[in-house]
Amino acid sequence: VAVPVQMSALEMIRNVTGLTGTKYGCGEGECGACTILLDGVSLNSCLLFAVECDGRQVTTVEGLAADPLGLRIEKAFVEAGAVQCGFCTPGMVVQARQLLQDNPHPTREEIQRGIEGNLCRCTGYVKIIDAIEAATKDLPPAPLPGEGGNGRSLRSGLNKE
Ligand code: FES
Ligand code: FES
Repeated sequence: VAVPVQMSALEMIRNVTGLTGTKYGCGEGECGACTILLDGVSLNSCLLFAVECDGRQVTTVEGLAADPLGLRIEKAFVEAGAVQCGFCTPGMVVQARQLLQDNPHPTREEIQRGIEGNLCRCTGYVKIIDAIEAATKDLPPAPLPGEGGNGRSLRSGLNKE
């Protein structure tokens, strides 16, 4: 797609490509509603310029429907009742995917830390943590193969600069 140089990746995803699963919450890198994977690494798309996606792999929550780990997490959210209004859910699911790819068997505290950049106004987080914990069942013990992994989430690095 052709985009103005000042357009954010989030605006491009929602308004140019029409993929509205990725949500606009704060627009300032604080809520995680806009989390995507860029070359397999999670970050806040509201703080990324669209032009920075050029030639790179952008995965939104829609893309996780075809991803076994993403699908497993989505099902766990539904089964655990971890979705109320649902506004935070796409970002939570994308970030949970990053977390479980890096560490397929996190403790509850590690899950809490892994999603600390994703805000939820409805659930109180317990069911979200329950869902992510449930999604780990029968996962292999080692970090999963993929382009991301190894704790390289850029959300608290690149995105906060
Ligand atoms: Fe809140 Fe991007 S919209 S972090
Ligand atoms: Fe409503 Fe999280 S379910 S903000």
